Amino acid sequence: MSRRLPDRGELLAASCAAAAGFLLAAGVLLGWPWLVPAILVGAASAAAVLFALMTLRRSIRGALRRELRRVRKDARRSRQLARRLARTSRTKLRAADAANDVRYRRLRTATDAAAQRVRRASAEDAAQLAAFVQLLDLAGVREALPRSRGYPASPDALLELVALIRERRPALYVDFGAGLSTVIAASTVRLIGSDTRVVGVEHDPQFAARTQELVDRHGLTDLVELRLAPLVPVAGGPEHRWYDPAVLADLHGVELAFVDGPPGHLERDARAPVREFLTPRLAERAIVVLDDTGRDAESRLAESWAEDLRATRLHRPAAEKGLAILEFCSSSE
Ligand SMILES: C[S@@+](CC[C@H](N)C(=O)[O-])C[C@H]1O[C@@H](n2cnc3c(N)ncnc32)[C@H](O)[C@@H]1O
Repeated sequence: MSRRLPDRGELLAASCAAAAGFLLAAGVLLGWPWLVPAILVGAASAAAVLFALMTLRRSIRGALRRELRRVRKDARRSRQLARRLARTSRTKLRAADAANDVRYRRLRTATDAAAQRVRRASAEDAAQLAAFVQLLDLAGVREALPRSRGYPASPDALLELVALIRERRPALYVDFGAGLSTVIAASTVRLIGSDTRVVGVEHDPQFAARTQELVDRHGLTDLVELRLAPLVPVAGGPEHRWYDPAVLADLHGVELAFVDGPPGHLERDARAPVREFLTPRLAERAIVVLDDTGRDAESRLAESWAEDLRATRLHRPAAEKGLAILEFCSSSE
């Protein structure tokens, strides 16, 4: 058990008491009776003052201790608050970082994809331009041509067509979906001096007139037979329309066909009826070129037609819109 040391007030009180006792004893011994009450009054006053001072001191100390406790408590609370604030800001910073990271990654992916699209598009433009330049030469084009690509066939597909005409010199060439392809085919026929009969099939009177104008401008009027064949319901359902077969009934022995119509947006599987129409009309050795096989419907048509008994080969050269070259041969060969 620790013993408490007397504080300064208690020492002072004890000293005063000792001094009063000493003076009292001196007064009694020296025979000064007046000194006794004076000392008692003085001691009582000193004790009262001392008591008041000690009480004041105690209350001041108590107040100071309470204040100190309050200050410590406030400091503790401030530290806790500071820690909580730091934790919150760290969490918020981390969340902001994560959100920025996600945004950055999304932006990066989009930018990469856009850059890749641009690279692919410019590579495609360069390839089409190279094909177009060769086309002018190999087809012997003499006049200005309308734009290729988009609705009209792309230069890469036309170049394949020109190569086939030059190689095969077909007796009968039929262009389903007339336009630029008809002019390029007829121009090639003229250049190589082949006696190919060129038939262009068009369902739309406006486009038929436009194509006829182009054919005339290129001096190919005598070489091209343009047939206006409106779209009519054919086998496959009343809503399934294709070129009016009555207008094309005389076409037999087709050696080369370019299937680039009717436009895909008009019907579902718009070009599917060509198979039923052409199969019995193909020459012993024939080639059918299907454009736009980058689209599902045209690709399905190429795949299913390639299973035909007479089909000997399905070739899919690289082409902007997708191209399928189907070769047919009669079973006797
Ligand atoms: C895919 S286009 C191809 C035409 C042709 N083979 C050529 O190379 O120009 C098929 C059909 O779409 C139609 N067509 C052509 N240009 C068009 C255009 N700009 N807008 C809507 N239809 C168009 C015509 O009826 C054409 O026969």
